[in-house]
Amino acid sequence: FMLAEFITAMPKAELHVHLEGTIEVADMFRYAQRNAVNLPWGTEDELRAAYTYKNLGDFLALFWQGCRVLTTREDFYDLTLAYLQRAHAQGVVYAEMSYAPQNFLPRGITVDHQIGGISDAIAYAREDLGTDAEILVIVQRHRSEAEGLELLDLIRPHRDSVLGISLGGPETNNPPAKFARLYARARDEGYRLTAHAGEEAPATYIAEAINKCKVERIDHGYTAFQDPLLVTRLVDEGIPLTMCPLSNQRLQISDDLSTYPLAHYLQAGVSVSVNSDDPSYFGGYVNENFEALVTHLGIGKAELLQLVRNSFTGSFASSSQIGAGL
Ligand code: HPA
Ligand code: ZN
Repeated sequence: FMLAEFITAMPKAELHVHLEGTIEVADMFRYAQRNAVNLPWGTEDELRAAYTYKNLGDFLALFWQGCRVLTTREDFYDLTLAYLQRAHAQGVVYAEMSYAPQNFLPRGITVDHQIGGISDAIAYAREDLGTDAEILVIVQRHRSEAEGLELLDLIRPHRDSVLGISLGGPETNNPPAKFARLYARARDEGYRLTAHAGEEAPATYIAEAINKCKVERIDHGYTAFQDPLLVTRLVDEGIPLTMCPLSNQRLQISDDLSTYPLAHYLQAGVSVSVNSDDPSYFGGYVNENFEALVTHLGIGKAELLQLVRNSFTGSFASSSQIGAGL
């Protein structure tokens, strides 16, 4: 693949990756075994065969099954370090890694163990690899706002370890406005704000996240093209989109990457970046997502460099964290 070396060599930031979505197949069985969790799949091949999805809901059902193997502080440490090692090998120098504590709280796994394990791995990777990372906490949109507000209470003791808040889970019928008060409080507490919007739901969800939740960034934003004035607004107000081509392809949101709207957004001057979302479930880390764009959209070096620049300028990092990248 012609531009593969160029893509790997670019120091880059990844802004949209779910830690729970980075469990590789072999590790799924390793975590299950050491925590005595029963999996519905007997072999690695059976699990791999399950990785085809009709839509977001279909994927989330499998993703939540996978979350069941993560139990201890050590699991969160190992998971995070394994991702950061793979990201480092792909030229990622800074990552904003999201995860949803509500995937684990019902099983009695405390945020102390979750955030503690993740933070220890970040500290190790910063020293050992020179790759820096931050945590974004995802609020699940199919649960109530009251539960989300309880989650903000639970993570308050870890305020210094969590950079921002996002909204994830099944999008349709769970619009951003459902969480307007939660976002207002998160903003008061000093968190940086983003939300999944316009992944499977229309562009109105993107506008609503900006207007009602005052988010600074949009995760996905795939459907923004439905509202040309919204695209202009993203440019004028400098609101970035963290797009995930292989995810959108595998969830049948984009049937054909040769018409993937990222090209249009880039051309229009939107700060769009390339990300992996749930790399082990969607068949590729960040560089495979860049490669898919080269293959299907025919983008070249100038566009690749702009996408990588956007990954830094669209991040929530301090300039000292990303000085090397810029
Ligand atoms: N969308 C919404 N929630 C998610 C996703 C996604 O692509 N991946 C993990 N949680
Ligand atoms: Zn996502």
